[in-house]
Amino acid sequence: MAEETLFIIKPDAVSRGLAGDIISRFERKGFAVINLKMFTFSKEQAEKFYNVHKDRPFFGELVSFITSGPVVAAIISGNNAIATTRIMIGATKSYEAVPGSIRGDYGLGFSENVIHASDSQSSFEHESRVAFDLS
Ligand code: CMP
Repeated sequence: MAEETLFIIKPDAVSRGLAGDIISRFERKGFAVINLKMFTFSKEQAEKFYNVHKDRPFFGELVSFITSGPVVAAIISGNNAIATTRIMIGATKSYEAVPGSIRGDYGLGFSENVIHASDSQSSFEHESRVAFDLS
């Protein structure tokens, strides 16, 4: 059954010129890109996007990094999109992510971990509203 999810290619990956490669991996997997946007998060928008982490000690670092440069946000559609995309991006700590996953192939950081993807239907709804200014 077709499902939608959101991913954000983070400032580290955009500045390294990896956005095209990363989008292409989702297209080759079989997902359809149904919305795509390049922008820079404002501090307020980033705090809203990541509000689930607002009480965590790394929240300041997270907001500072995600607002540090342009990101590319995409909404994609396809079978089992939310779970399959999480498998494709790999473990949060890029240095532990297995080769073959996006973080495993492109990153070594933790805060700077190449890509974010929604982990549930409710995260998708919240995050896509914030990233695409739908609310
Ligand atoms: P992401 O998938 O965007 O979701 C939340 C982000 O917080 C995560 O990727 C990491 O980049 C970041 N993060 C999670 N835990 C830590 C941590 N302990 N220290 C620094 N950054 C973290």
